[in-house]
Amino acid sequence: MNKLNRRDALRIAGVGIGAALTGAASKVALAAESPVANPALVESGEAWKYAIIDPDKVARDAYRDYHIGHCMHTTFMSIVRNVGEELAKTDPLAGNAVLSFPFHMFHYGSSGGNGWGSLCGSLNGALAAINLFCGSEKTLKALCDELGNYYEKTMFPIFVPDDAEPMPQTISGSILCHVSSGKWCSIAKVRTDSPERTDRCSRLSADIAKKAAELLNLNVAQLNAEEPVPIVALKRPEPAATCVKCHSKGGENSDVIGKMTCNECHPEKTVDHHLTKR
Ligand code: HEC
Ligand code: HEC
Repeated sequence: MNKLNRRDALRIAGVGIGAALTGAASKVALAAESPVANPALVESGEAWKYAIIDPDKVARDAYRDYHIGHCMHTTFMSIVRNVGEELAKTDPLAGNAVLSFPFHMFHYGSSGGNGWGSLCGSLNGALAAINLFCGSEKTLKALCDELGNYYEKTMFPIFVPDDAEPMPQTISGSILCHVSSGKWCSIAKVRTDSPERTDRCSRLSADIAKKAAELLNLNVAQLNAEEPVPIVALKRPEPAATCVKCHSKGGENSDVIGKMTCNECHPEKTVDHHLTKR
């Protein structure tokens, strides 16, 4: 009963070979679409898996590793490495993928973009790390705004390394490296090429990395939620909020782009000034 004639055997073998070929072909097609299956990817979407991290450890790491590649590099790396190490405990493949990130790519961000004094590198690195783990655009925007506001309005540096003294502190009022470091150097009465300024920026990197870690932890359920309700505390300060209503995208003027504190650079412009003028 189990005997097959030659023709049957060939037919079955043919089906087998055909199936194998189709399987191989579809694998090739799949491979073309996604060349490497990245174990760090969340199941739906393009963000990377996140794991709760210790914000104080992140701060210490950011401070310790500042010398490797400056502000943006250390802020990004301290957050992402801690996530990788935590992930590796339960999901080694994902953890190793996170740890293999080409961190060197953030050297360029030092001193506001290769020394141009633009966006502070510590903030830039923290925003990049948030983005890596955040698939929801709504959450991403809320966390980025929160960190920007925190940067502009907080007395920094807060972090004090072991066996060191607190430093003079300033409120930058601006996310620009130029303004932030310039104001601090003027208060501390040091040059920008001094070791004190480097130490201040290392401590600031620790502060910003810590805050980003706290925000990520707090919003772990919001990172890839379909209808997220981001958890943030700070609100955009007045009067910038008012200025933005008219001047930024979608406002009645819509003539500039920006969420920075306007009066840092337009000190003479008040809402009253505008209203009386009109
Ligand atoms: C109610 C809408 C409105 C608000 C709020 C508003 N502006 Fe304006 N702003 C205008 C209009 C309209 C103009 C252009 C006409 C003018 O100069 O009055 C203008 C012009 C300006 C200009 C450039 C031109 C100039 O005349 O010097 C600057 C800079 C400016 N605003 C900054 C600000 C800042 C900073 C704030 C917040 C403190 C602010 N604006 C709030 C409507 C507004
Ligand atoms: C870091 C400095 C800086 C900050 C912060 C800043 N601006 Fe400006 N802004 C400028 C400069 C520089 C110009 C160009 C000046 C010029 O053309 O006279 C400008 C131009 C403008 C103009 C157009 C002026 C014109 O002549 O038509 C408006 C309106 C304006 N800014 C509004 C704002 C608002 C609103 C904010 C806050 C959301 C803001 N700015 C924040 C530096 C800044």
